[in-house]
Amino acid sequence: DWTPGNFIENTIDEVKKLVGDKKAICALSGGVDSSVAAVLLHKALGKNLINIHVDTGLMRKNESNDVVKMFKENFDIELVHVDASELFLERLQGVTDPEKKRKIIGNTFIEVFEKEAKKFEDAEFLVQGTLYPDVIESVSVKGKSVTIKTHHNVGGLPERMNLKLIEPFRELFKDEVREIGLKLGIPEIFIKRHPFPGPGLAVRVLGEITKERLDILREADDIFIKALHEDGIYDNIWQAFAVLLPVQSVGVMGDARTYENVLALRAVTSTDGMTADWYRFDHRFLEKVSNRIIRSVKGINRVVYDISSKPPSTIEWE
Ligand code: XMP
Repeated sequence: DWTPGNFIENTIDEVKKLVGDKKAICALSGGVDSSVAAVLLHKALGKNLINIHVDTGLMRKNESNDVVKMFKENFDIELVHVDASELFLERLQGVTDPEKKRKIIGNTFIEVFEKEAKKFEDAEFLVQGTLYPDVIESVSVKGKSVTIKTHHNVGGLPERMNLKLIEPFRELFKDEVREIGLKLGIPEIFIKRHPFPGPGLAVRVLGEITKERLDILREADDIFIKALHEDGIYDNIWQAFAVLLPVQSVGVMGDARTYENVLALRAVTSTDGMTADWYRFDHRFLEKVSNRIIRSVKGINRVVYDISSKPPSTIEWE
């Protein structure tokens, strides 16, 4: 029978056998999947697991620092923390096509990660928190190789670096990984965080990405997410986030006309991200969040709510 406890024990045994006293490197994005993978593999390998966290500058408010802190405070695990945000922004300058963004982020990520990882010459393995839906969405459908959306976490890295891949969650769904994480003692607030895509806020700032637009989105997103916690509805939702649209609209503030950005709110229920239904908020909740955002985030003068489900829409806007 599948239980988190059995899975943890078996994986620790297998990994110990496979890796022996060699070293493994973990690409730690800070998301739930790679975090659980890191804690699990740390149990098997101890100091022979090297965790590298690349800050792309495309994370949510305070996210990178929170991740580093969580590992240090709860597990006494030190991360190699690389701030590459300027490089990512530079490479993304002027790029608006979603798949191009993903490609640039994927390649830049590999480049930065490779450079760091090479400092650990004797490493032979690479750990990734890939889930079953990632495997099927990006590889093949009924024997035909089609890419629905390229998922940047998987591509290219192990072969280039001559590393053998360890993907403990390749056959698991998100909720199973969450159970494992709780069993391992990762704080619930961290484990229950909504999934966050590899390319991060780059696919939520529609159109061109700038530091300024990222900061506007970060502030608005933070208000939205805090309100979900405040009302006790965060856990009913699979994913909730804000999207900054490449559209300006007219507004009025006091007796002055404004011409500023439109922000969309997205919230869906789902069990695996493959299909999703838009979340029916109480109108008063939407009103509260809209007022707070427009009042306190400079650069936004209009908030809309996305009422599309997947399919035919996707969860992300890009
Ligand atoms: P969509 O937008 O395709 O999203 O309905 C399904 C799930 O996948 C996440 N997603 C990504 N995750 N790299 C990732 O690691 C990506 O490029 C990517 N695109 C979408 C999305 O957040 C949702 O959970």
